[in-house]
Amino acid sequence: MKLFLDTASIDEIRQMWALGILDGVTTNPSLVAKEGRKFEDVIREICALGVPSVSAEVVATTVDAMVAEGRHLRQIHPSVYVKIPMIPAGLTATKILAGEGTRVNMTLVFSANQAILAAKVGAAYVSPFIGRLDDQGEDGMKLIADIVQIYRNYHVKTEVLVASVRHPIHVLDAAKLGADIATMPFAVMQKMALHPLTDIGLAKFLADWQKVPKG
Ligand code: E4P
Repeated sequence: MKLFLDTASIDEIRQMWALGILDGVTTNPSLVAKEGRKFEDVIREICALGVPSVSAEVVATTVDAMVAEGRHLRQIHPSVYVKIPMIPAGLTATKILAGEGTRVNMTLVFSANQAILAAKVGAAYVSPFIGRLDDQGEDGMKLIADIVQIYRNYHVKTEVLVASVRHPIHVLDAAKLGADIATMPFAVMQKMALHPLTDIGLAKFLADWQKVPKG
């Protein structure tokens, strides 16, 4: 499974990129707003690190404006995926952009039927928001299971990008279901690497090593 960071923080991206575990980055207007920097500067800087997939979201809501914004964003760097919201106009805009070779990440997806439509118009990624579903008492992971099964049934090429991830169990369950990608906050990716028994075990090994005669 590919692991993406869900952030617009260059510092966070640099840290995970240095570990060699990062396959991509997703941003959204809320994440960019937190950084207090110009949107395109942030996207350019992430791409310059060498991150192969960087999702940048349009803020227009009409077909023509979304297409124009998508065309503008994609020319920033070859690694840019254009995020388009799952609204009716977004379907038309995705059909047009995908037809021109732009890779679209269809975002704000909350149902399997929406995912079927995203695939129909040629989205490269579909982004179901599981945490937000869980937050309101629905089963976000059930949606991932449904989409993975439907896409398998029809050999759909659109990749399932599990979004709105809140904790490491979300990542684990998504991997078990065969989702293509999980995008997660920095803290969740950090937690994936950590286990207290690893730290205790290493401390013991290093302490015992001091007892081994040297020279
Ligand atoms: C990523 O593409 C989404 O914008 C993001 O995962 C949403 O996460 P949130 O529900 O924590 O805001």
